[in-house]
Amino acid sequence: MFSILKNDLIAPKLHRIVVEAPRIAAARKAGQFVIVRESAGEERIPLTIGDANIEQGTITLFVQAIGTSTRKIANVPAGSFLLDVAGPLGMPTEIKKWKRVVCVGGGVGTAVLYPMAKELAAVGNEVKTIIGGRTKSLIILADELSQFCQEVCITTDDGSLGTKGFVTDQLANLLDSPDTRPNTVLAVGPVPMMRAVAEQTRPYGIHTIVSLNPIMIDGTGMCGGCRVQIGKETKFACVDGPEFDGHLVDFASLAKRLSMYKAHEEACRLLAS
Ligand code: NAD
Ligand code: FES
Repeated sequence: MFSILKNDLIAPKLHRIVVEAPRIAAARKAGQFVIVRESAGEERIPLTIGDANIEQGTITLFVQAIGTSTRKIANVPAGSFLLDVAGPLGMPTEIKKWKRVVCVGGGVGTAVLYPMAKELAAVGNEVKTIIGGRTKSLIILADELSQFCQEVCITTDDGSLGTKGFVTDQLANLLDSPDTRPNTVLAVGPVPMMRAVAEQTRPYGIHTIVSLNPIMIDGTGMCGGCRVQIGKETKFACVDGPEFDGHLVDFASLAKRLSMYKAHEEACRLLAS
């Protein structure tokens, strides 16, 4: 059993949960995730480890309460417990001195991006971050990112905060000039956003990393549920990823696989309501 120490709603349907998990906190690296089960018989949900505190023996998870199982996890209050938290899983982010890095986060993808940006800044990269959301209330972690990023640029689709438009509009400005053009771009968010970023950087030959979130079950390379097409190869996001070269990802097949259980999810939602 894993004790929940804090559970805060930081944006509509988005919870930041601090879990007591000392062994995971000590072992985890940026980019890795855990698989969480709220109670016996419940679905296994992969969640990125957003942060960790080794001294306090805690990890931070961001849970978007959109499906039946994620709602159950998000509703566990501080002082209560999660049955299983397995990990750390997946390959860590490749942390290198790339020099000039731009991190692009769309919506809740910003929570996944946060530990990657933090590590890249810690090794001496010049990190600029662009975060976007549909509206002001969906912009997350701007203050936290400002602690170590050279610049945090905010966009909203409706113009309620920062610049009106998509994150890709701001990235286009940075790519335009050799003075601001990055050596590496990291993008985490909805599939159409990551695909758009990869297409923007491709003509410049800029190293581009995306973090994929296919459906996962065991998280250990056994079930094949998380398979993704990377160039000519089939990879398992849980053991080979979740980060891949954005220029090689088959985003169309990823989008198709992600929509496979939409009808089932909707049926569960209706049953639960
Ligand atoms: P959203 O759809 O509200 O988009 C967030 C921002 O992404 C937008 O404000 C915009 O700036 C940008 N964006 C969206 N579509 C774009 C496009 N076609 N071109 C350029 N920019 C675009 O995001 P949301 O509702 O918070 O995210 C939901 C999706 O993100 C879900 O499908 C979820 O599965 C996925 N997600 C992915 C990861 C990951 O690891 N890749 C992590 C969390 C969530
Ligand atoms: Fe089963 Fe990746 S989740 S193989």
